[in-house]
Amino acid sequence: MESHDPVDLSEAIETYGLARHITELDETGLTIVPQSTLGLDDEWFEQLRDSILRVAKARTGVSFDLASNPSANFEGRAGVIGHLILSHLIYEDQLFERVLTNPIKKALMTHMLGTGHRLAVSDGWIKWQTPNTWEEESTTGFHTDQSVVPPPWNWRLPHIANMNWILTDYTRENGALAYVPGSHLEGRLPSLGEALPLAVPVEAPMGSLVMFSGCLWHGAYRKTTPGLRVAMLGQHCRPYMLPFQDFKGRIKDEIFEASEDPDYLRSLMREDEGQLRVDPVSVPGVK
Ligand SMILES: [Fe+2]
Repeated sequence: MESHDPVDLSEAIETYGLARHITELDETGLTIVPQSTLGLDDEWFEQLRDSILRVAKARTGVSFDLASNPSANFEGRAGVIGHLILSHLIYEDQLFERVLTNPIKKALMTHMLGTGHRLAVSDGWIKWQTPNTWEEESTTGFHTDQSVVPPPWNWRLPHIANMNWILTDYTRENGALAYVPGSHLEGRLPSLGEALPLAVPVEAPMGSLVMFSGCLWHGAYRKTTPGLRVAMLGQHCRPYMLPFQDFKGRIKDEIFEASEDPDYLRSLMREDEGQLRVDPVSVPGVK
């Protein structure tokens, strides 16, 4: 993949064995990194999943159990489709910082977005059995994550890219992420009804990391099984864009101090934006 700010990722590619994933990102627009490559144990993912369920309970008052659908009915879109999105998770727990600074995620995100990319959202996603009243085959309609930028797009230089940490087994029946392989090469949005017949599910066990281009056509299949599908999402954007959620100046010092990659975390949170800093010498009246 060409980039306007080429980054030498050869060391990370060699260290972590990422060559296949780089090729898949270029050719398919999506790659699934298995737990064995990530080198993280089951507990790492279980803690992340439990933290999302804990935040969900704190914010909604409803207890979530992995094996069953929620005991309460949700109003609005959450109830109609059968999923709940929990935003700004980075505020809640160091675990949500760890997923951002993981070195394999960093390398693959840097391959797609270059250096200096920003965190655009920090969301947990809980999905349960799709209600019968929802008739569509997909619960998330097919879209691209970078539709805020008008097409045509250069797939070699996506404006946005996404990470999905898979925290329960993904199968088509379990309401997996659906995508059209190679659709990022089109450099445009799908037309109505175009993507679903071409789509395939992300079939991946709990403990996988899915990375994909903001040009990729994707959605999600309806969930036909009882119980929860849980994932941690994170769209990222290039530094010339403003993130969808604003984390700058809102992350506690302790989070940076406990990070294994504080410089990268600062960059993700836009704490290194020199051009926005007010210089009292050059701006009269500002002290
Ligand atoms: Fe999306």
